Amino acid sequence: MAEKFIIKPSGPLKGQVEIGGAKNAVLPVLAGSILTGQHCRISNVPNLSDVESMSELVESLGGHITWNRAKGIIDADTTNLQKYDAAYELVGKLRASFLIIGPLLARLGRARVPLPGGCAIGTRPVDLHLKGLAAMGAEIEHVHGYVEAKAKHLTGAKIYLDFPSVGATETIMMAATLAKGQTIIENAAVEPEIVDLANFLNTAGAEVRGAGTDTIKITGQQGLKGTNHTVIPDRIEAGTFMVAAALTGGDVLLTNVMSDHVKPVTAKLKESNVQVEESQEGIRVNATSDQIIAADIKTLPYPGFPTDMQAQFMSLMAKAKGTSVITETVFENRFMQVGELKRMGAVIKIESRSAIIEGVDQLTGAQVNATDLRAGAALVLAALTAKESTEISGICHIDRGYHLLDVRLNQLGAKIERVKEG
Ligand code: EPZ
Repeated sequence: MAEKFIIKPSGPLKGQVEIGGAKNAVLPVLAGSILTGQHCRISNVPNLSDVESMSELVESLGGHITWNRAKGIIDADTTNLQKYDAAYELVGKLRASFLIIGPLLARLGRARVPLPGGCAIGTRPVDLHLKGLAAMGAEIEHVHGYVEAKAKHLTGAKIYLDFPSVGATETIMMAATLAKGQTIIENAAVEPEIVDLANFLNTAGAEVRGAGTDTIKITGQQGLKGTNHTVIPDRIEAGTFMVAAALTGGDVLLTNVMSDHVKPVTAKLKESNVQVEESQEGIRVNATSDQIIAADIKTLPYPGFPTDMQAQFMSLMAKAKGTSVITETVFENRFMQVGELKRMGAVIKIESRSAIIEGVDQLTGAQVNATDLRAGAALVLAALTAKESTEISGICHIDRGYHLLDVRLNQLGAKIERVKEG
């Protein structure tokens, strides 16, 4: 049964919130566990429906997943994983499922994975993933909506990525761990989640060097072994709570967060006149005193301002003093929240890949719809300070990437009710 949020104006958020493990780190690590053919214990796993979907997929191929949700621990045993044919209905639930293609091809010599369709934020092609695998000797075919890849053995290659794609870097890095010889990825993505995946692979016996820089060198091994890995904190969840504190004029301490990973968000919040203090305890966001002022952002690959924080920051700029310009350079259709924010009284004009936002004093409640994960989060944030209540439908998108966002915001003073639709 679909659910919706009914959100009343909350007043300033106050208190402390612990940030969970990173969705975009645990998903590639789960896919990478296929490479080991043994038991891996993954800790700090967030309780998210996307993690559920990836776990189901690994199990459908013969892996065995035990998930202690309360403790945030997944035991993934891929000893008996022998299937290389991923089911359409499982991959269709989660685009990141495509990340299993590299591990399946490297370990089993074959992979048959549905070509992921587009989603709300863009067409989401996988050409760079496939270009890398082909460069390592894989035969790639597109048959009836599936990618069929074969390779008796993969051979190391030098691969230049036309765009520093996170997923393509992960696919190539994972496949290269079992290839013959050395693979060099140039113009690689440098996101923290890439470094976390490389750390997991190296503790499993891989030889990955340079993760976190734009050139990654992987020397192939005969095989990998089971290992233990603790996933990094979720920098996007952290940024979302930071904006929530700023938007409500609150004072919130975030714990279990890596300050370096949220630097671009911290910098932009300070530019918007929000106090952000980093300490041993964590990150404290204090916006109790002054007016938020407009700041421009341009989303870029890490360490630029993250595209996954663009919508949330737009909600903040909707109530800032002055006019801001937000330019989305990573995805071609990531302004889905604009129409809904305008229904809440925001003054926003889209011109090509930029949105021009004129800050208003007050947003008003409305019935709105979450089209995708981060747009949904942005609507929740906007609703926290809107006059009267807001109803947000489509919150299944939000649950994909945030564990109990409503409950955790309520613990800080928000007034969010989760009710059944209809
Ligand atoms: C990852 O998606 C994240 N998802 C996304 O987070 C995030 O927005 C994105 O990286 C950018 O940081 C996961 O890690 C599971 P990309 P990914 O490949 O790997 C183009 C969220 O909200 N491209 O770096 O799919 C692509 O079209 C999600 O948590 C190609 O052209 O992102 C896009 O314009 C949303 N060909 C750009 O690169 C390819 O083969 C960035 O995509 C691959 C990508």
